[in-house]
Amino acid sequence: MTTGLPADAPRIALLHGPNLDRLGHRPAQHYGTLTLAELERTVRGWAHERGMRLGCFQTDHEGAFVQHVHGLAGIVDGAIVNPGAWTHYQWSIRDALEILGVPFVEVHLSDVEERAKAEPHRGVSVIRDIAAGSVWGKGVDGYRDALDMLAGAR
Ligand code: DQA
Repeated sequence: MTTGLPADAPRIALLHGPNLDRLGHRPAQHYGTLTLAELERTVRGWAHERGMRLGCFQTDHEGAFVQHVHGLAGIVDGAIVNPGAWTHYQWSIRDALEILGVPFVEVHLSDVEERAKAEPHRGVSVIRDIAAGSVWGKGVDGYRDALDMLAGAR
């Protein structure tokens, strides 16, 4: 694919965890109506506008996620991560992101802090303290904020 971007354009990984391939079928009041493919297309457009290249990955499998993150070493300059439910308890995801060692932004489509009033587990994030930034409750626009945060973190 030709992007018109220079070969040395910053490379950003967009990483999604379990059930996020079901966007478009999950409750719209939390997650909106875009499918994951539509979301990825939208975020890629915003990345290109900012002179960044975007690579996308989603899996429902913890080991596949960890191995994918390991494989990004030396390839990406930053990451945008929505780990889905793993956010709230999955320490191996945190370790993999820490090992990768590039700035990353944690994104949630829904307002996890508001939802935590009824579902306390959503108020816990095992990656927030090592993230360059965190965005929640802004739907797909949160990913645009994440790109801007990464641009600022470089
Ligand atoms: C989510 C919030 C998580 O609590 C949930 O398990 C998800 C999606 C979000 O994008 O709002 O799967 O990360």
